[in-house]
Amino acid sequence: MTQLVRLERRAAVAIVTLDRPERMNALSWATVQRLGEVGRELRADSSVRVCVLTGAGEKAFCAGADLKERQGMSRAQVREMLSAYRSELSWLSQSDFVCVAAINGVALGGGLELALTCDLRSATEHATLGLPETGLGIIPGAGGTQRLARLIGDARALDLVLTQRRIDSREALSLGLLNRVIPAAESLLESTLKWLEPVAEGAPIAQRAALLAVRGAAHRPFEQGLELERELYERCLESADRDEALRALAEKRKPHFTGK
Ligand code: COA
Repeated sequence: MTQLVRLERRAAVAIVTLDRPERMNALSWATVQRLGEVGRELRADSSVRVCVLTGAGEKAFCAGADLKERQGMSRAQVREMLSAYRSELSWLSQSDFVCVAAINGVALGGGLELALTCDLRSATEHATLGLPETGLGIIPGAGGTQRLARLIGDARALDLVLTQRRIDSREALSLGLLNRVIPAAESLLESTLKWLEPVAEGAPIAQRAALLAVRGAAHRPFEQGLELERELYERCLESADRDEALRALAEKRKPHFTGK
């Protein structure tokens, strides 16, 4: 029986793979629950610095809600599913570690919303992204309207949400929806991990402070954001890693960070 979601660890990096390629890695009720379980496991482990979320196979990152399952669901069950998206998937944007979606194929509907819940996004050249919900008589319901508008602006978000247009990874990069497109000749996962090496191996207190400071910008008035930045800077200033970085610079060697 498929595990629905696979979890692999490589030192400080966790790799989470949606594993239902026969259904284009669509989000069934059980898959969402399993993602929630994986999130709880990772959040309980303070050694995790980076989490990469990807899909099994080459065709799909995630084709959104499991439409076959959805057909048999009552309206009440759909409402429950929407609240499960929030309770089981929000760890992707609320953990102490950085979450990155490595989009290996189609990311449609809830699949794109899942990627939008992550902090960063990379994709293969052949990836296709889109929000087809309005064509199905609904709207994105896993935070997609809010996250997309914040990320790329209202007008660009409306273009994608209203027209249901599917875009390729080059266009998604130019819109700011993706951070990077990985060339076909390279492995998406390995190139994404290489990109994130400075995060996985950098000073833990500074990395976490930077993550919380930038995440915090979306939810605060400017002056409060500056106050958050000051508080987080203070944590770094008090850390032994900050002193070690200055010493290493003077001694012309690589710093050895201990997370203290
Ligand atoms: N939920 C459940 N099953 C899905 C699915 C979804 N969201 N998307 C695809 N599948 C299934 C198909 O039904 C098919 O299964 P079958 O062979 O048992 O019929 C299998 O995955 C392969 O899909 P298929 O359409 O044959 O592959 P394709 O390469 O031609 O197209 C997609 C792939 C993802 C582009 C296409 O299936 C699609 O547009 N799916 C709907 C996506 C969508 O609208 N998502 C938003 C939901 S809100």
